[in-house]
Parts: sequence; structure tokens; C-alpha cells
Amino acid sequence: MKILVIHGPNLDKLGEREVDVYGKLTLEEIDAALSRLGQELGVTVTSFQSAGEGEIVGQIGTAEKKYQAIVINPAAYTHYSVAICDALAACRLPVVEVHLSNIYSREEFRHKSVIAPVANGQISGFGLNSYLLGLRAAVALVK
Ligand code: DQA
Repeated sequence: MKILVIHGPNLDKLGEREVDVYGKLTLEEIDAALSRLGQELGVTVTSFQSAGEGEIVGQIGTAEKKYQAIVINPAAYTHYSVAICDALAACRLPVVEVHLSNIYSREEFRHKSVIAPVANGQISGFGLNSYLLGLRAAVALVK
């Protein structure tokens, strides 16, 4: 089984960006933890990060041919990207939305996710564990 993990804009700055909100782990460390859990679960994890909405839409558009599920942290796009929402709705793969921070305990503009209606579920507020739980959920959805 192959799982695609998509990280949206500014997540490449993890480890130095607002560490009080997002923690000290870098994106590389998160990806390494996902790979390790993937090995444990017997699945291949491929990670992709981009600040570009179009690039993310492009990855989702070709994902159906290569992967069995998507775990996505759309970052700021969570709150307004109809293009990513539409791409996920079109791709027919199980989708798990994840957030490091609890988006519902932060500024009001973060309380709305335009991705949630097209995701199978959402995990928000557990730091690295949001991704790890998201990967477990994606694997369970495929099985
Ligand atoms: C985030 C939450 C978003 O509101 C924010 O724009 C991010 C990261 C999170 O993982 O907590 O960039 O998706």
C-alpha cells in the first residue's frame, strides 16, 4: 500500500516557525517519523511539500494512479482553497486532513476548513501525533 502525505505552504519552515504553536520538530523529522511508522505498518509513505496551490492540485490529480490514500495538511489553504477541495473531491481516494495545532482554539479565521467536507476525517491539535494518527487512519480506511 502506498500513501501520499501532502504538506502545504510554510510547513517547510517547521522547527523555526512559531515553535510555541507548531513545536520544534522540522518537516524532515516529521517525514522520517512517518516513514518509520509506514515501515512498521508495512506501507510506503511518500511526502510532498509545496507552497503552490497549483502544484498541490497537480499532485492530487495524479495521485489516484499511484497511491491508495492521501494524508494532507493543507496549512493556510485549509481555510480558503476551493481548488484543493475540488481536487480532493475528484480524486476518489480516502483523505485524512491533519493539523499540528488545534485550529478550533486559534483565531476565528482558522475555525473553518473548506477541506473537511471532502475528507473522511480530520485530526487537529496533536503535533507530530496528528500526522501519525492520520497515517494510521488512512491505512485503516484502505484496509
Ligand atoms: C496548520 C494550521 C493552519 O491554520 C496554518 O495556516 C498552518 C498550519 C497546522 O498544522 O496547525 O500553516 O495547518
